[in-house]
Amino acid sequence: MINQPKTAETHKQRGSQTASPSIAEGIIVGDYRFLRCIGHGSQAEMWEAVHCDDDSLRVAIKVFDLNNVKNWNGFDLLFNEAATLRELSIDGVPRYHDFISLPPMFFLVQCYIDAPSLQARLDNGFRPLPDAICDILRQLATILVELHERDVPIIHRDIKPGNILINDDNRVWLIDFGIVADDLQESSGSTMAGTVGYMAPEQLVGEVSPAADMYSLGATMAYLFSGVAPGKMETKGLMIDLDKYLSDSTPSWFRQIIADLLNPYPEKRLSSARQLLRRLENDRKLTQEELEATYGVSTNAKSEREKRRTTVSVERRTQDNIFDRIETLKERKARVERLKGMISGFGTLILIVLFFLFLYYTRGK
Ligand SMILES: Nc1ncnc2c1ncn2[C@@H]1O[C@H](COP(=O)(O)OP(=O)(O)O)[C@@H](O)[C@H]1O
Ligand SMILES: [Mg+2]
Repeated sequence: MINQPKTAETHKQRGSQTASPSIAEGIIVGDYRFLRCIGHGSQAEMWEAVHCDDDSLRVAIKVFDLNNVKNWNGFDLLFNEAATLRELSIDGVPRYHDFISLPPMFFLVQCYIDAPSLQARLDNGFRPLPDAICDILRQLATILVELHERDVPIIHRDIKPGNILINDDNRVWLIDFGIVADDLQESSGSTMAGTVGYMAPEQLVGEVSPAADMYSLGATMAYLFSGVAPGKMETKGLMIDLDKYLSDSTPSWFRQIIADLLNPYPEKRLSSARQLLRRLENDRKLTQEELEATYGVSTNAKSEREKRRTTVSVERRTQDNIFDRIETLKERKARVERLKGMISGFGTLILIVLFFLFLYYTRGK
């Protein structure tokens, strides 16, 4: 265990000397000071940290330590996640900031999102109403439109409540891009990656396509409506037996959407995020009254959308602002380093000149 070294340099030295170095509160790596561990995975730890020059710049850092893993798969995952996040600048996905290599440790720095995971909230008794579930699904579908409709689609492959962050206003972020794949890998994809219960049947045999993410979305929705994790649900053939888990309080249109998302055959599945958004808009409009009658909830969709739009744009500005400020600090540091380099180069030059002058005068005498 490292005893709170004060600088990255100290950390670097200790990292290479200690058999099993690990991060602790107060450690400084690069420009960031570690505050607290916010999550443990089998391969990496997630930490909250702040920028050393500005405490208000909060980041989340995924730490991978070659000394503390049974195999090096996690290394690949971290690089894959870093490469993907670096490409993305969309609402609902934390912004990439930095990747720091201090072998045997590696650090992926991203924007800190002040929200627990959906899994953590479900574990604490969160039981959203259909209207809120619809809103969560709409936000996730919007993120998937961005990912799936890129020139080379990005497929997340591990959508589940543990990889979704959700704040008190039910604003949603998708995280953990370690096992993302691009559509080009379809023909060669043979490794199984994902979480049992959320994985589409074709994903079990390594097929990669946007439809697999849509299945995971369906499984997540079934969990939200029933409170039962999909891995524990009984199946009828290849299909989750939804009748057993979705009570009559689940609006019929929503039940149909979930069934269409969970269709075991990708070609028959509701497999396009954009199509799902359209269905949510259209189907929901038809049953507004049904919802209000059943739950006594005013779905006042327009004002909800307005509210969401405002929070999304504030959130986007916050992420952009943090990103810009970190970039400015980086540039300032780089300028100082360049200046230092110039000064030391100039100093060396003066020393050389002085040395030759000295030689010249001593020889002259
Ligand atoms: N950008 C972030 N901001 C705040 N917390 C985060 C962020 N990313 C992840 N977390 C927290 O860390 C946990 C683990 O992150 P995740 O990327 O899913 O790692 P793992 O690969 O270990 O599953 C999440 O469940 C969440 O609570
Ligand atoms: Mg995860």
